[in-house]
Amino acid sequence: MRTPKSADTPVEILPVIRDRWSPRAFSAKLVTNDLLRKLLEAARWAASSYNEQPWRFLVATKQNPDEFERALSCLAPANQQWARHAPVLVLTVVKEAFSHNGSPNRCGDHDLGLAMGNLSAQATAEGLVLHQMAGILPERVRELYGVPDGFHPMTALAIGYQGDAEALPEGWMKDQELQKRTRKPLRELVFTGAWETPYFGD
Ligand SMILES: Cc1cc2nc3c(=O)[nH]c(=O)nc-3n(C[C@H](O)[C@H](O)[C@H](O)COP(=O)(O)O)c2cc1C
Repeated sequence: MRTPKSADTPVEILPVIRDRWSPRAFSAKLVTNDLLRKLLEAARWAASSYNEQPWRFLVATKQNPDEFERALSCLAPANQQWARHAPVLVLTVVKEAFSHNGSPNRCGDHDLGLAMGNLSAQATAEGLVLHQMAGILPERVRELYGVPDGFHPMTALAIGYQGDAEALPEGWMKDQELQKRTRKPLRELVFTGAWETPYFGD
């Protein structure tokens, strides 16, 4: 559903891409386990180099408050501030080597990103919102969950239903929640023939 945060695009794109955004205000509504399973199933079907599926997910929900607090404690303090109101937290972890020959998987982080893209699209289609975070405490994730060597904690995501921006503290957080979303133009991103020679004129 188009909202004031939907992308303003010169050409039409899929609604699940157009309407996804990263809020910090979450409502108290819980996410059912069936819905959560659907999101992770969408993630599972992402493409990956050698079909390695290097992604791993540590899930915590408000239905289990102790687990939720454990996951929350792995976020950087600035993220804890708003993410504590989301009903679901997920920590992501990436396997560093290929299973078939043990050599380093250069694309593991990339492939987690694809899984996150799938999960985001499914979440948007289901009327959920999510916010990904680089701001985590990777060593704490490793320690608290017993993440073995050969895997690295990468990001976290908060999942839930959109809340009221008015509930956020005054300042940058609330400002960002209400601002229009922006992107670089394609001419700065897509080249042809030589570096920084735009493929598209405008
Ligand atoms: C890998 C990744 C890490 C991010 N880390 C954080 C973070 O630690 N804290 C935060 O508040 N937002 C974080 N974000 C959200 C981005 O700031 C946001 O996606 C970006 O501003 C674009 O906004 P949009 O998602 O609403 O289009 C992260 C997003 C991604 C994809």
